[in-house]
Amino acid sequence: MEREQWSSTPGFILASIGSAVGIGNIWRFPYIVGENGGGAFLVPYLITVFLFGLPLMVLELAIGRSTGNSVVSAFRSIQQRFAAAGLFIVAVVSLILGYYIVIAGWVLAYAFFFTLGRPVEFGAFTGSYLPLIFFLLSGLAVYVTVRSGVREGIERLSQYLIPALFAILLFLVVFSLTEPGAAEGIEFYLSPDFSRLADPGVWIAAFGQAFFSLSVGMGIMIAFGSYLGKGPLFRNATIIAVADILVAVLAGLAIFPLVFTAGLDPAAGVNLAFITLPAAFMEIQYGMLLGALFFVMLFAAALTSAVSMLEVPVATLMDSYGYPRKRATLLVFAAILLLGLPPALSYTALNLEVFGMPFLDLADYAFGTIGLIVAGLIVSVVGGWFMSRTRICTEIGGCEWQQRAYMALIRYAVPAVLVITLIGSLFLVAG
Ligand code: PFF
Repeated sequence: MEREQWSSTPGFILASIGSAVGIGNIWRFPYIVGENGGGAFLVPYLITVFLFGLPLMVLELAIGRSTGNSVVSAFRSIQQRFAAAGLFIVAVVSLILGYYIVIAGWVLAYAFFFTLGRPVEFGAFTGSYLPLIFFLLSGLAVYVTVRSGVREGIERLSQYLIPALFAILLFLVVFSLTEPGAAEGIEFYLSPDFSRLADPGVWIAAFGQAFFSLSVGMGIMIAFGSYLGKGPLFRNATIIAVADILVAVLAGLAIFPLVFTAGLDPAAGVNLAFITLPAAFMEIQYGMLLGALFFVMLFAAALTSAVSMLEVPVATLMDSYGYPRKRATLLVFAAILLLGLPPALSYTALNLEVFGMPFLDLADYAFGTIGLIVAGLIVSVVGGWFMSRTRICTEIGGCEWQQRAYMALIRYAVPAVLVITLIGSLFLVAG
């Protein structure tokens, strides 16, 4: 059977923005900025996105397009023994997906209850059986999309949801900026504390957040690249990265003014989206409507990201093991439900903990932080060192010096930054 292709370049770009823009942008980025030097955080963040994340994204797209295959088969065609490394990446992305769908389920539930005008309280919600139901529902949405294929499923979903997401976000930002807490909120969020840049922890946080947010190093862009026809990789990847940054920065502008207007504590860390912000919506005028819009937007972001993750194991079963798409999707969906069960139960009444940590937090650390960095390292080494330079350069185009600079980044700078991030992430948690 012929390989599916995106229907158009904008279709591919929207699907990739769908992958990159996720819970990481709207929930995680704002509180990480707040905790790590406000506006000053943008310095290491932007450096990482453009100097290291973007080249890695382009490398993945180049690997995908040039081999015409998803990660395992692509790695195998570079060298037989790298197939196992490809499988490792497939495992990591599947494990991330397991807990990501759990959080997407929380978001869906919040969207649902705000729409009904009866928001739930986090503790009461997670202590009930409801998270399991919404975990299943959001998993089903991901399953149905990927089952429908690249064009009819993934591309079409993003074609509707990404413009809607931007529209809702812009509306929320405009609304927030007219609220009484706007000035204070922006002051907290963006006023730069440059002294924090001397803290290595701030840089590590920026590296980790940037790679996570761009969805690079997970083989997603390899799969997406394999459905791609001609077209400039660098330009397209830049559009994706800029959209990703824009959503992240705007999300903070929508959130913090509301938190200050409601007179709540902005330094809520991980509690920001699920506890503080809902409490703020309860305080302010039109709060129910705004809350519903916010969580619908967050669900759109989560769904399009989860879909891109599911495509990785599905494409692997299709490319490397000859499964038809529908059977591959069903099989992987069943596996993901099992993988998601422990994190799904971790905040419930069962309170599933490992090493005194909720299972979901542990999964985020082990797979979403450490696993993701190791996977990124593997991609940069296999692609940068073992794929021929001519092959990469045919894909990226450009002139001699640009290609030289690119190869240097991919071979030395990107792996170096990933190793630093790895050590930092291990050390920061242990320390
Ligand atoms: N980039 C997505 C976000 O910011 O939420 C999450 C994500 C997707 C992370 C895919 C990792 C990944 F492989």
